[in-house]
Amino acid sequence: MITETVAIITTLVVVLGICKLFLPSAKINPQDKAVLITGCDTGFGHELAKCLHSLGFVVFAGCLDVQGEGALRLKDVPSESGGRASKKLHVIQMDVTKEDQVSDAVQTVLSLLPKSTGLWAIVNNAGISTFGDVEFCGLDVYQRVANVNLWGAIRVCKAFLPLLRKTKGRVVNVTSVLGRQASMGRSCYVATKHALEGFTQCLRYEMRNWDVKTVIVEPGNFIGATGIFTQDKIDHIAEEMWRSMSEEVKESYGEDFFQSRVQRMRFFTRTGNTNTQPVLDAMIDAVTDEIPRVRYEPKTLYWHIRTFVMTLLPHRVGDYFYHAN
Ligand SMILES: NC(=O)c1ccc[n+]([C@@H]2O[C@H](COP(=O)([O-])OP(=O)(O)OC[C@H]3O[C@@H](n4cnc5c(N)ncnc54)[C@H](OP(=O)(O)O)[C@@H]3O)[C@@H](O)[C@H]2O)c1
Repeated sequence: MITETVAIITTLVVVLGICKLFLPSAKINPQDKAVLITGCDTGFGHELAKCLHSLGFVVFAGCLDVQGEGALRLKDVPSESGGRASKKLHVIQMDVTKEDQVSDAVQTVLSLLPKSTGLWAIVNNAGISTFGDVEFCGLDVYQRVANVNLWGAIRVCKAFLPLLRKTKGRVVNVTSVLGRQASMGRSCYVATKHALEGFTQCLRYEMRNWDVKTVIVEPGNFIGATGIFTQDKIDHIAEEMWRSMSEEVKESYGEDFFQSRVQRMRFFTRTGNTNTQPVLDAMIDAVTDEIPRVRYEPKTLYWHIRTFVMTLLPHRVGDYFYHAN
C-alpha cells in the first residue's frame, strides 16, 4: 500500500514537472515596469534592451561606452508609436567594474523611474571572456575577467537590491554552460561563471524572505551570434598571451602546443549557434514569467546532453567523452 502511494505521488510529481516545462507560464504585465540591463553595447544585452522596450517595459540600458556605436543605436530606438527616440529607453553609462558609475546609475534610475511601479528587474548580462591554459594566463588576466563577470555582477546586485526589495522584483544573472562544468583552456572564464552561479543560488535563498526572485540564464555556445569572441579577438589574445608568458613556460609547453590551443579556440568560435533568439526568449521569460524557473538553459541538444553527463554522471564518464586528450 505504502509503495503504491509513493509510486503514484512520484509519477504525479514527474508528470506535473514535465507539464510545467512545456506549458506556457503566466506573464506579468510589463506596462510601466522598469528593467535595468548591463552590457547593452552589443550582443544579448543590446538585443534584449530592444525586445523588452518593444514589450512595453521602461528599459535602462547600461553601456560600457555611452558614446559608442551600440549605445547610439539604442538612443535612436523610436517610441512605441513609431515617433521620435523613445522616452522609455534610457541609455546610461555603466562600467560595472567602476563603483562610482554603478552608484551614479542607481541615482539616474531613481530619478527616471515610473514612481507607480518602481524597478522590476535587473539583468546582469555584462561579461567578457578569454582563453588560455592556467600556466599561460597571468593573474592580471584572471582579475580582469573576474572584475566584470563576478565582482561587476555582485556590485550591481548589491547596488540595486534595495530597489528590488521594494517591488518584490527579480534578479536575472547571465552565467553560461561553463558555469556548471569545466573546460580545458577556459579557466579564467569558467572560474567566474561557477562563482556567479554559486553567488546567485545563495542570493536566491536569501531573497525568498523578500519575495525577490533570483534567476539564472545559462546560455550554451552562441559565440557565432555575439561579439564575445571573434577571430580577431582570439588572435589578439593569443599574441598578448605568448608575449607575456615566462620563458620557462614557453620552453616547457613549446610553441606548437600553444598554437594548437589557439587553433582549437579558433575552431570553437566556428561551432557556435549564430541565432541569438533562444537566449533572448529565455531572458524575456526570466523577466516576465509570473513564476520564473530557477534556471533557464537556452542551448542545443549537444549542450543539454553534455551538461547532463558532466554534472550528473560520474566524472570518468564526462572525462572520457569530453576531455579525453
Ligand atoms: N555568446 C555566448 O556564446 C555566450 C554563452 C554563454 C554565456 N554568455 C554570456 O552572455 C553575456 C553577454 O555576452 P555576449 O555573448 O552578448 O557578448 P558581447 O556581445 O561581448 O556582450 C557583452 C557586453 O558586455 C559589455 N561589457 C564588457 N565589459 C563591461 C564592463 N566592464 N561593464 C559593462 N559592460 C561591459 C561589452 O561591451 P564591449 O562590446 O564594448 O566590450 C558587451 O557589450 C555574458 O555574460 C557572457 O558571458 C555568452
